[in-house]
Amino acid sequence: MFTIITGAQFGDEGKGKIVDLISDNYDLVVRFQGGDNAGHTVKVGDIVYKLHLIPSGFLLDSRVLIGPGTVLNPLSLAQELEMLAKGGIHIGPEKLGIDAKTSIIMPYHIELDGLKESSRSEKIGTTKKGIGFAYIDKVARDEIRLADLTDKAKFLARIGELASQKESSIRELGGDPSVVMDSKSIDLYVSLGQKFAPYVTDVSLEINKALEEGKNVLAEGAQGTHLDVTHGTQKFVTSSSTIAGSACANLGVGPTKVDNVLGIVKAYITRVGEGPLPTELKDDVGKQLQQVGREFGTTTGRARRCGWFDMPLVKKAVFLNGYTELALTKLDVLSDIDPLKVCVGYELDGKFMDYPPELTGDLARCVPIFEELPGWSNDLTNVRQFSDLPDAARRYVAYLEEKTGIPIEYISVGPGREQTFRK
Ligand code: IMP
Ligand code: MG
Repeated sequence: MFTIITGAQFGDEGKGKIVDLISDNYDLVVRFQGGDNAGHTVKVGDIVYKLHLIPSGFLLDSRVLIGPGTVLNPLSLAQELEMLAKGGIHIGPEKLGIDAKTSIIMPYHIELDGLKESSRSEKIGTTKKGIGFAYIDKVARDEIRLADLTDKAKFLARIGELASQKESSIRELGGDPSVVMDSKSIDLYVSLGQKFAPYVTDVSLEINKALEEGKNVLAEGAQGTHLDVTHGTQKFVTSSSTIAGSACANLGVGPTKVDNVLGIVKAYITRVGEGPLPTELKDDVGKQLQQVGREFGTTTGRARRCGWFDMPLVKKAVFLNGYTELALTKLDVLSDIDPLKVCVGYELDGKFMDYPPELTGDLARCVPIFEELPGWSNDLTNVRQFSDLPDAARRYVAYLEEKTGIPIEYISVGPGREQTFRK
């Protein structure tokens, strides 16, 4: 069985929590795009881990893989492994595989990301992790792959080839080009290459073999649908394709192999960074969602913008991903808000639309049209099954299910594993 999970909104829908819950059933859990711009929080007992690269299935028996369509900051991964080791969780090459072709994020990518962002008059609000610049190099065929990093001579030769180009790009943006050939960071990268050499694998081959043997594979997306580099709200997007089809393309698995596509959707909407968010709440309700939902970025600590559930955006996500089922997260955060609003369409230039306009500039001009639903005042965090939800909460879920046309299979009412249940 091959399942793909993606976020249906702007990321931070709680994918990690759902993957963690269902990865029990999977032999392989695989990341297919993005890098350490992603972030999720995993609670193991009393210890809270903030993770960026390791696929969420690492806690269970599954083997976890990082696919060749990702961009990998090896220092960030090493720090993550170290942090987990301190908590007694050791992740060796039998547990984690990284594709030989994975593009490496170099210090100059991070430098360029920061410089470029500060030079933009209209900001994107990137995570400044060098994601976009690493992908530029991949497409330009100027990338350093994991297979280059693990071979010291090849790595040094490759940096030598690329150095003057990178130095002049940094200089052009007013930065300090010495970061490119900084001997300390080059030595560090060489040692990281040695560290990760045993982890190198052919991800496409591993997955296809596993599927042939009847095993279960879960592809875990990062970020969210509307941050997709092609179909998202350009230019306020990330630099990879975040939608379900991207899993096939980036992992080298044929689309005929896909069995399920699970969309993760928050009971409201959040966005971190710039770009349109038609239902954004700049009032006390928005603050309440932010505080109660702890809507602060795992990677950058930035406050996430919050708004009402935006049905047109989710409808578009259903089209782009072909969801077969949905998981609805953070339902508990909506307690004590009455009435609740759901955006069912927009008004644009005097016309009603129940689907987002294609262009970002038009989306930014859309005025949301709401329907109201009764709220509830009960605390939901101790609810363990659907039938124990208050009537109004069940009605809210049923309403979303009907409007999206996709069955909601999971509901979560808090960060703990026991707080997610099947509908
Ligand atoms: P980048 O991916 O760092 O280039 O950032 C591009 C845009 O995507 C910015 O608006 C970021 O805030 C957003 N972004 C990147 N990664 C995530 C994520 O994991 N969750 C939510 N937003 C993200
Ligand atoms: Mg996140």
